[in-house]
Amino acid sequence: MAVVLPFDPVAEVSAAPSIEGIVTLVRADMERVNALILSRTGSDVTMIPEVAQHLISSGGKRLRPMLTLATADLCGYQGEGDVKLAASVEFMHTATLLHDDVVDDSEMRRGKLAARMLWGNEASVLVGDFLLGQAFRMMIEVGNLTALDILSTAAVVIAEGEVAQLAAAKNTATSEDDYLAVIRGKTAELFAAACEVGPVLAGRPKLEQAACRSYGMNLGIAFQLIDDALDYGGSGADLGKNVGDDFREGKITLPIVLAFRRGDEEERAFWRRCLERGEIAEGDLERAIALLAGHKTIADTVERARHYGAMAKDALGIFPAGPTRSALIDVVDFCVSRAH
Ligand code: IPE
Ligand code: IPE
Ligand code: MG
Ligand code: MG
Repeated sequence: MAVVLPFDPVAEVSAAPSIEGIVTLVRADMERVNALILSRTGSDVTMIPEVAQHLISSGGKRLRPMLTLATADLCGYQGEGDVKLAASVEFMHTATLLHDDVVDDSEMRRGKLAARMLWGNEASVLVGDFLLGQAFRMMIEVGNLTALDILSTAAVVIAEGEVAQLAAAKNTATSEDDYLAVIRGKTAELFAAACEVGPVLAGRPKLEQAACRSYGMNLGIAFQLIDDALDYGGSGADLGKNVGDDFREGKITLPIVLAFRRGDEEERAFWRRCLERGEIAEGDLERAIALLAGHKTIADTVERARHYGAMAKDALGIFPAGPTRSALIDVVDFCVSRAH
């Protein structure tokens, strides 16, 4: 007997995944988050608001604060604390970007010159410190010690991840496990913390707290895997930052880890010259991209991201179906298929 599979023409032609669902859901609260962000960059030292506003006014996706608001909503939170914690989370993110562009010698951020290109490395580091301090003051105003613990731990773990990455730079012996440990720290931890404080504020049981944390952690891993794939295959205009930065810096991301292991001796010599010794000549980035394509390492990096994305979605299975859960699931699809 023939089996008739259901055919859903709407799903077949559905548009590219977007974050419209979550944007709509948290629009009103995000306006308050943005107002708070603006007001807390103020200082009599005029260089502080100048540098901070340069980066903040360039936009960014505001993914992390939206996740804080949406997970608080998912857990039925009714108070005001989520807006301040969401602003804190975005300040922590903004501070890490200011610091990260110094560490990575990056020239572009959010489609504009990185703050360090206009005000210098010193100002970028110091204004990053200012924003981190402001983030903690807002957390104190909320007054939830568990949330403070989660976010302050995240600040430590992010810094550890960035330093671990620095220690692994230019080392082609870096394993996939080493790489995963780095991205869990530098990127996924903040996603996890951003999602965990929602149920904490709402006073929900540990099970829900752990589920939201797992959603954020796995989403964050998927997010960074895609970011690392885009550094070789994306468009600088879409990303608002230069592609090929990772190669020029000798950063050992998953596409490289896999290509090094799958390559022959001559290819490994090429990777060692470019990444370990930093001897990069014209045409080398193109050769690198061709090798990554030949060994299907970008496709496999995206495949790994899909796997973590699926784990993120399944973590939400304990919550009732509804618009908030759907919006959070759409965020995963957006992050895995994103081009910016
Ligand atoms: C950039 O994060 C840093 C990474 C973790 C790759 P986003 O891509 O979320 O940056 P914005 O805030 O949208 O600019
Ligand atoms: C992102 O690091 C994580 C942090 C900012 C801590 P990357 O260096 O990989 O991100 P981009 O490419 O500069 O956005
Ligand atoms: Mg960087
Ligand atoms: Mg970096």
